[in-house]
Amino acid sequence: MRVLRHDAAEFPFFCRTLAGATLDHARASCGGVKAAFAALWTKVVLRPMRLALFEPDIPQNAGTLIRLGAGLNVPVDIIEPCGFLFSDRGFKRAGMDYLDAADYVRHSSWQAYLASRAPGRLILLTVRGSLPYTDFAFAASDTLLLGRESAGVPDTVHEAVDARLRIPLRTGMRSINVAQAGAMVLGEALRQTKGWP
Ligand SMILES: C[S@@+](CC[C@H](N)C(=O)[O-])C[C@H]1O[C@@H](n2cnc3c(N)ncnc32)[C@H](O)[C@@H]1O
Repeated sequence: MRVLRHDAAEFPFFCRTLAGATLDHARASCGGVKAAFAALWTKVVLRPMRLALFEPDIPQNAGTLIRLGAGLNVPVDIIEPCGFLFSDRGFKRAGMDYLDAADYVRHSSWQAYLASRAPGRLILLTVRGSLPYTDFAFAASDTLLLGRESAGVPDTVHEAVDARLRIPLRTGMRSINVAQAGAMVLGEALRQTKGWP
């Protein structure tokens, strides 16, 4: 009798607990599916964030940035003319064997790049920018555009972009190395957009 009473009392409780747990499990799975779908949407439909190098001068910097892109799953656009050949030893050494795994595209000119570039905003990193990159809201489909080591980018490029960001430096410092600038801002942009591989 006691067991029966006990069972009778516990059965509805057991059913409620089971239903609650099942619901929680369903909610959790649904959250997981949503997150996976969002990640897939970002990578396939919105496309991943990209780096673009405007007429790079120095092969080691370009190789370093392509290697960075390979490691972080960020395709790199190289807008030619470059100040080096792709057979350059410095380029190959900086990119190491990651060059083979890297997703990089060469564009013959700025105009050719504009005609074929991936959708999304163009975000220029420039010492002439007024907005610190840490105050900017990045989107997963942004392309971070880096200027030439010797001269940045021309005014026509400044006018064509959607935003111009600056890495704040201490007074008297004009700029930092282009590959370091790219790595700093890409890190923040991937952090904000949950784009880390
Ligand atoms: C060596 S800098 C070029 C400096 C060039 N003489 C100029 O005045 O633009 C090469 C590239 O690195 C990036 N860069 C370097 N320092 C930066 C900073 N403080 N803020 C934003 N971008 C920077 C920019 O993309 C820049 O075009």
